[in-house]
Amino acid sequence: MLWTLWFGLLAALLSRTVTAQANAIYRDPDTGLVFSSNYVLYKVNQGITYRVAIPAGVQTYTAYDAVIQAVIPNDVGWAGIAWAGSMPRNPLTVAWRNSQNQPVLSSRWAGGHITPQAYNNAQYTLFKTGTKSNGTHWQYTALCKGCTSWTTDTGASRYLSPRGGNRMAFAYSPNRPSSPNSPTSSIPIHDVHGYWQHDFSGAANQDFDAIVQRLASGV
Ligand SMILES: *[C@@H]1O[C@H](CO)[C@@H](O)[C@H](O)[C@H]1NC(C)=O
Repeated sequence: MLWTLWFGLLAALLSRTVTAQANAIYRDPDTGLVFSSNYVLYKVNQGITYRVAIPAGVQTYTAYDAVIQAVIPNDVGWAGIAWAGSMPRNPLTVAWRNSQNQPVLSSRWAGGHITPQAYNNAQYTLFKTGTKSNGTHWQYTALCKGCTSWTTDTGASRYLSPRGGNRMAFAYSPNRPSSPNSPTSSIPIHDVHGYWQHDFSGAANQDFDAIVQRLASGV
């Protein structure tokens, strides 16, 4: 009885908070990029904000760059994104903080529900602008080359839609990796995972290339 009540309440809280924030358009004052933004809960009333920005005018079924921005509560040890909405066989973006409290981005790939390995077909450039922390949150902003398309085991190409919704997933653990200064550190297994539908049509930026060039040069 108590369990039923508890789960009912949890479901109500989760669904309400998630839908209230779904695919908000966020104009980032720091970077100048427009992001499509989703707030995903990993515990009751506490979530991670994931934002995606892409170039305008991208053709469907092509590879394109993306900027990812995440706002993460300080109690998160590592937080990961699966670009195709589940853990196996798609680019994984795993993030944590090193011993200097700076974000580390680790590119991974999992052949199944097993420990993900390093993945060289996605590369990240962490931007100084849009990467910061305070008493409650840490935030990273990074370019990813190779997150929106990949090759399956059978050699087929997969592409995320630049115009519509893409199912993405997250995973979270309260524990940091054992060697936080190394992007290839082993990572403790996740506690919670979930997925959402990320609308990329609201993420298009006309001046994406110019802004990314400025951000990459550290200005
Ligand atoms: C702390 O930083 C996060 C991430 O940048 C931001 O969203 C939040 O508003 C900040 N909180 C305060 C109190 O400044």
